[in-house]
Amino acid sequence: MDKMTFVLFGGTGDLANRKIYPALFNLFIEQKMPSSFSIIGLGRREMKASDFQASVEKSILTFSRNKPKNKFELDAFLNTIRYSKLDAANPEDYQQLLKVVKEREEALGLPENRLFYLSVSPAFFDIIAMNIKESGLGTTNGWKRLVIEKPFGHDLQSARELNRKLSNAFQEEEIYRIDHYLGKPMVRNLEALESANPVLQALWNNQYIANVQITASETVGVEKRAGYYDTAGAIRDMFQNHMLQLLMMTAMQTPKKLEAEEIRKQKIKVLEALRPLRKEDVSKQIVRGQYAAGVVDNQLVKGYKEEPGVPADSKTDTFIAARLWVDHPDWQGVPFFIRTGKKMQEKSTRIVVEFKNNGNDLYGSTDPNLLVIEINPNESVTFHLNSKNPVNSKMESINLDYTSNQEDVPDGYELLIYDAIRGDSSFFAHWNEVELAWKWVQPVLEAFEEDIISLELYEAGKNGPESAYRLLEENGFTWLLDK
Ligand code: BG6
Repeated sequence: MDKMTFVLFGGTGDLANRKIYPALFNLFIEQKMPSSFSIIGLGRREMKASDFQASVEKSILTFSRNKPKNKFELDAFLNTIRYSKLDAANPEDYQQLLKVVKEREEALGLPENRLFYLSVSPAFFDIIAMNIKESGLGTTNGWKRLVIEKPFGHDLQSARELNRKLSNAFQEEEIYRIDHYLGKPMVRNLEALESANPVLQALWNNQYIANVQITASETVGVEKRAGYYDTAGAIRDMFQNHMLQLLMMTAMQTPKKLEAEEIRKQKIKVLEALRPLRKEDVSKQIVRGQYAAGVVDNQLVKGYKEEPGVPADSKTDTFIAARLWVDHPDWQGVPFFIRTGKKMQEKSTRIVVEFKNNGNDLYGSTDPNLLVIEINPNESVTFHLNSKNPVNSKMESINLDYTSNQEDVPDGYELLIYDAIRGDSSFFAHWNEVELAWKWVQPVLEAFEEDIISLELYEAGKNGPESAYRLLEENGFTWLLDK
């Protein structure tokens, strides 16, 4: 693995402390970091190097999966870290940063391989990318990479604008867009499950599959993020990115090679085949919901509009359900139902594939076969089949079940950062994916904006408004495995 410099913008922030330093530390002690590397944390305040290292130490001791075995191990990691003060808009600070980067490169004999991780508000993405270019930080004899987190834009136009600005400083193959759902082990497993199992491969089409249900329900509400969430809603916060990624990973054809380009090509094909939605049809295919007061986990909770920081007349969606069609010969006629929401009955991210009942009725009516992939918080794969009970000879539903009970599963950030430093972009969102996702979502955003689809309230603790069930009933289905 190439020796390199890891530059962390937002190096004193919450994500850095909770996820990024612990991920780097875990990679370090599992010997998955390059043999020599430098980490430079950036923040707006002046800070002594020792204070900064102490705060990184605290983050590791609090959040890391692996705790340091001894002081020597911890110090070895902390010694790789420096701090530099940086105001994103101040070109002089980038000169100072360049100086620190170069000093460390010389001291450690590092080639000019530089990874810039932007753990900051997206409002700063373009200005930071521009300053990286203009300061000379981006002019290297080695490679350079830019890692950014969602949201990538607020709608199709702003996403294109942002991408245009980023591409002045970085090539597409140098940009690593994190969608943390692609860091989840079970999401990464989706393609493998199909590719490595001829049984599933044979069944993975409209001859056998009746419908696919993708759920990401949460029990939390808007928490302390009203300022952001009220401008985003579930459609931008979860649907445009995470949910469409899950759809791509489920519906993609098996790649011919396990290479980023091939995997992303197959994913993009799914979005290209997604039947476009006209604004006039949005209300037929989408359910837009917002939570009202109710009971979650035996606690009485407020409605969304009563949450601190949310305007009392907010029309922001906290729940989305959608019916999508993939116009590909394999998927013709198979509805994909997606739903995601806050303050629902349980925390569960799962994919349920319902198979057609093609069998004969020798045994009367049997339950449909299901393949259930639980992603979060449980990780499991379950096949629901029918079998004869040996005692009473009646048909019953049986489950073939695999549950990953392994401890010590790496956090998604660990996997994603490891990929980024190795230069493997398989599980990062390509610009074409992001753009096509915004394209599909754009008429929905407009329909919301123009209020041509009603906002339906649902009681907190329930699985969305009644219409979310009607959406499936129209096709003869129902949401499966709800508690
Ligand atoms: C984030 C959203 O991207 O994903 C949050 O901004 C949401 O609103 C979170 O709570 C859900 O992630 P996970 O990993 O808990 O399913």
